[in-house]
Amino acid sequence: MTDTDIRPIRWGLIGAGRIAHRFAQGLAHVPHASVGAVWSRRAEPADALAREHGALACASVEALFASGIDAVYVATLQDSHADYAIAALRAGLPVLCEKPATINGAQLERVLDAARDAQRLFMEAMKTPFYPLYRRLREHLARDPVGDVGLVRAGCSVANVPASHPSFSFEHAGGALLDIGVYEMFLATDWLGAPLDVQTIGRLGPTGVDTFASLNCRHERGIAQLFCGLDLHGYGDALLAGPLGHVTIHANWWNPVRATIRYADGRMVELDEPFEGGGLNYETAHFCDLLRAGERESPVVTHDTSRRMIAMADAARAALGLRFAGE
Ligand SMILES: NC(=O)c1ccc[n+]([C@@H]2O[C@H](COP(=O)([O-])OP(=O)(O)OC[C@H]3O[C@@H](n4cnc5c(N)ncnc54)[C@H](OP(=O)(O)O)[C@@H]3O)[C@@H](O)[C@H]2O)c1
Repeated sequence: MTDTDIRPIRWGLIGAGRIAHRFAQGLAHVPHASVGAVWSRRAEPADALAREHGALACASVEALFASGIDAVYVATLQDSHADYAIAALRAGLPVLCEKPATINGAQLERVLDAARDAQRLFMEAMKTPFYPLYRRLREHLARDPVGDVGLVRAGCSVANVPASHPSFSFEHAGGALLDIGVYEMFLATDWLGAPLDVQTIGRLGPTGVDTFASLNCRHERGIAQLFCGLDLHGYGDALLAGPLGHVTIHANWWNPVRATIRYADGRMVELDEPFEGGGLNYETAHFCDLLRAGERESPVVTHDTSRRMIAMADAARAALGLRFAGE
């Protein structure tokens, strides 16, 4: 196939905040993809982002859907992900939706129903498995295994997030579990399968969202020890342990660039894989490939992957007594 045979993908962006900017910059590293149109509820940020990328600024979300784009990227805050994803799917457009795809499992089922009814591709934007390091680690362990991974230990806690950040917003369904914890929940389910039991201790902060949570989880194939927080500074490595050795994915493991594998027989292997383009570009390229191939679901971040992650978050929030508006 020549370059000219490859179908270009024009993206429509809903939201024009921090992650929308990073996504748009990352598109420069995705072959045959560009920002086609932008809509945000305030005109100025959408205009500025559209201008920066030579795209159309739309006056309404309906105008964005009708602008000739090929796919939608939902980059609003999580309390509105489900509504925009469903609207885009019903307009016949495939959707890449920022994490967490929804704020609870019931919302996720409505989104997945809409994707099924519309027969369109839907994927949660869980970037980590698409990084070159993560892919190389998977390939390496297939050739030189540590055995069946039975323990995943991972955490992320950042205490330098400003109080005005949406992570602290109850109204927008913030909190450590949904903002940061979902990465750990991904790692646990990716290596250990579906969660069977999630035990959580943690605390809520003054705005009513969770500011620290520690999870002990039993999965189909092992145990996960996870933590996430917004009030302690505890960046962490991730550990994957098997009977023949263990892997350390060094900080920041959710944007992985380096891993160390220590085998029980004394061998040590270091993997180094830098990433380019900010990192979101790899999941975007994967999505574009799926779209061109006519797929409806990613084989890497499957719909069940999203179900498993949000089931863990639902269970953890229930243990902390954290319910958002309308729940
Ligand atoms: N994958 C990653 O690496 C990564 C990193 C950071 C964040 N995220 C995720 O990305 C999402 C956005 O985060 P962010 O840091 O970009 O937030 P942000 O900078 O606050 O931007 C949020 C954007 O969403 C818009 N918005 C919020 N609620 C809306 C609603 N109900 N209807 C229409 N527009 C709405 C905002 O519009 P206004 O300007 O009008 O408020 C703004 O354009 C979050 O879900 C977050 O979890 C992902």
